Amino acid sequence: MRFIVIGASGFVGNRILSHLLASDYDAIGTYSSRKPEPDLKGKSGNSAFIEYNLLEDKLKDCLPKGFIANGGRNEKTYAIICAAMSRIDECFLNKELSYKLNVERTINLLYELKELGIKPVFFSSSQVFDGKKGPYTEKSKPAPVCEYGKQKLEVERFIQKEVPDSIIIRTDKVIDDHYMKGQTLSDWYDAVKAKKAIYCIEGKTMSPTAVADMANAVRLLCEKNLSGIYHVANTEFFTRESLAKEFVKALEAEADVATRPVEFFNFADKRSIETHLDSGKFIKATGMRFTTMREVFNRFINK
Ligand SMILES: NC(=O)c1ccc[n+]([C@@H]2O[C@H](COP(=O)([O-])OP(=O)(O)OC[C@H]3O[C@@H](n4cnc5c(N)ncnc54)[C@H](OP(=O)(O)O)[C@@H]3O)[C@@H](O)[C@H]2O)c1
Repeated sequence: MRFIVIGASGFVGNRILSHLLASDYDAIGTYSSRKPEPDLKGKSGNSAFIEYNLLEDKLKDCLPKGFIANGGRNEKTYAIICAAMSRIDECFLNKELSYKLNVERTINLLYELKELGIKPVFFSSSQVFDGKKGPYTEKSKPAPVCEYGKQKLEVERFIQKEVPDSIIIRTDKVIDDHYMKGQTLSDWYDAVKAKKAIYCIEGKTMSPTAVADMANAVRLLCEKNLSGIYHVANTEFFTRESLAKEFVKALEAEADVATRPVEFFNFADKRSIETHLDSGKFIKATGMRFTTMREVFNRFINK
């Protein structure tokens, strides 16, 4: 197997690319606006990163010379599609651009992958559900309330109709296991250090999943040559408030963790509130054990 991680400069894609390279696979990854540091070396010894802009480029023109031909017929190639405008409010506030990137150009990429004989693994989200009552299974009816969720669902529907031999991964909240500004534990860590309160949406549930588990899950789904929709999310679920409290406790710190109604946060777009997912189908297919949040906290603290 070979892999192209589209959006390998992002939080999840970067971890997937490192994991695949560490698992001795031939893998390259794309960046668009920022080449990641540190660089990662591919099998050839060259940088594993290539520049690719989903809005402007054809993937084929950006791949290393001979990449397609060298794969031959025996080597299955996967494209892990992580590239997206991934923030809920940003999608709503820049509706035209987000729709172009997350739907139109992603669909163009899927057509191109089909032509090249490359199997897609598309990252979708728990935001395809209305968030009224979790946990959601793959059989639950999607009914997104925000623009981001609607865009993800539109691509899912396209894939199911036009390229059904693909993998769609729905996940909920992916959690950092080392300090990375802007990610959940890191934000909470910063708040604790600055002696600021942590406010959480009232009633917000989540299946927090370690970023390392997401990388592992992608590899397993591909190694097993599975297709279809899989909920890849930790079997433990929490309210956001209880997770924040557990984290503060693990830091052996004191902090004010409180809930507020969703209106308090002045979000631009609506939010699905109960977004925890049932990952029974994925676990049955792969046998993967998810890292507990206690283990993730320990990694975060000890790094
Ligand atoms: N993180 C989560 O908790 C979570 C939860 C559910 C679903 N997801 C989904 O999982 C996927 C990965 O999430 P993430 O957190 O890793 O997102 P992220 O950190 O925001 O990364 C987004 C990636 O998209 C790339 N990108 C943006 N515009 C592009 C363009 N015009 N052309 C090519 N690439 C472009 C970025 O590249 P540059 O930075 O180089 O421009 C970056 O590599 C997304 O589809 C997201 O919706 C994430």
